[in-house]
Amino acid sequence: MEFTTIKGFKDILPEDVETWQRLESEARRVFHSFGFKEIRPPLLERTELFSRGIGQETDIVSKEMYTLKDSKGRGLTLRPEATASVVRAYVQHRLYLKNPIQKLFTIGPMFRHERPQKGRFRQFHQINAEIFGDPGSRSDADIIIMAMFFLETIGLSGLGLHINSLGCHKCRVSFKKELKKYLIQKIHALCLDCQRRTETNPLRVFDCKVDTCKETVSSAPSILDYICEDCQEHFESVQGYLESSGIPFVLNHKLVRGLDYYTRTTFEVQTDRLGAQNAVTGGGRYDGLVKLIGGPDHPGTGFAMGIERLVALLDEDAEQEVRTPDLFIAALGDTAEKKAFNWVNDLRRTGIWVETEYSSKGLKAQMKRAGRLGARKVLIVGEDELASGKGVLRDMEKKVQEKVELQNIVNNLKGILKESTG
Ligand code: HAM
Repeated sequence: MEFTTIKGFKDILPEDVETWQRLESEARRVFHSFGFKEIRPPLLERTELFSRGIGQETDIVSKEMYTLKDSKGRGLTLRPEATASVVRAYVQHRLYLKNPIQKLFTIGPMFRHERPQKGRFRQFHQINAEIFGDPGSRSDADIIIMAMFFLETIGLSGLGLHINSLGCHKCRVSFKKELKKYLIQKIHALCLDCQRRTETNPLRVFDCKVDTCKETVSSAPSILDYICEDCQEHFESVQGYLESSGIPFVLNHKLVRGLDYYTRTTFEVQTDRLGAQNAVTGGGRYDGLVKLIGGPDHPGTGFAMGIERLVALLDEDAEQEVRTPDLFIAALGDTAEKKAFNWVNDLRRTGIWVETEYSSKGLKAQMKRAGRLGARKVLIVGEDELASGKGVLRDMEKKVQEKVELQNIVNNLKGILKESTG
């Protein structure tokens, strides 16, 4: 049997990992400057956390969760998203007691059993940020500004910010009624799932990927015509902050997002360069979620971005910078090999990337390996060099050689290598 990754799961190979690390460390740097702290919830949670938090009628809960049973028969689920887990941790550890405004971020894998395609995987990774404790428009604007600033910092521009308001639980009732009336008139154009959703949760018809359903909702009533005065004011205020921060956006009344917990502001950052999977970031406000998960009635707002999609956009844009070793030590003979082993370790402790062979090899084979690795310089040390107290240092690019004193070699090499890197 040949073992390969399972469908929708992929290895992140060494040549890609540097881009991932750069994104993760930029996220940490930018988010810290906005006052966010990292939290790392587990990957496995009680199924109920997600079914209650995200909503039974959503695609995620109804079709896409990886669920198993523990020894007592209780459902456990690999997290399909991070918000419910972060909310659970916020409630469980009463983080609100330490600070009435909590700003948290988390980075890691999520699992959804979706049909894999370009930009869509079954294990994917998100950078996720949440603000708890503020109901106002400024925290919505702040979270959107942070997302846009981060995307700009990593070198992604030309992305479209779409925003909408889903109103509050009160004003959404009248919209749902109108939407339902509209959908019932068109019921035969809807797929069987959407015919059911029309009754149970009509907003979810907006998420359907079936063409006739998409066409049907394209002329559905707009939620923005139904939101109450308070929600209207809140939404206008968010827009005002975005405008004064110079962040362009488009109003998109069809942006209902695929999770039930949203209230008021929702947003997505979209690209036209990834085919059907056009959202690189999605988020919004979720004022009832903390209470729904068993905590106090605290508001929240946040977003998540898919790392695979960010990396795909960056790959299209940029030449990959490949790192290569600063030095290769080619040692010949037992004594030189033993000395080289110690020099390698001493040099590595100073932050210099040094490579050498693990087994005894001739000079030709060692030079070939140094060339393949792309080492900038090679130190050649054999019996003659040890006897004369001088090694040979070859510059692989310029193809020139010089002698270096072996006494105090670690310091000598440190100086030479630092000088040549500038
Ligand atoms: P979401 O829209 O489901 O929202 O996912 C956010 C982002 O994760 C998407 O915009 C996309 O970049 C990425 N993503 C989602 N599914 C996949 C997949 N199958 N393969 C690759 N990338 C994917 C949430 O998850 C919410 N928890 C966001 C949020 C946080 N709202 C408030 N706080």
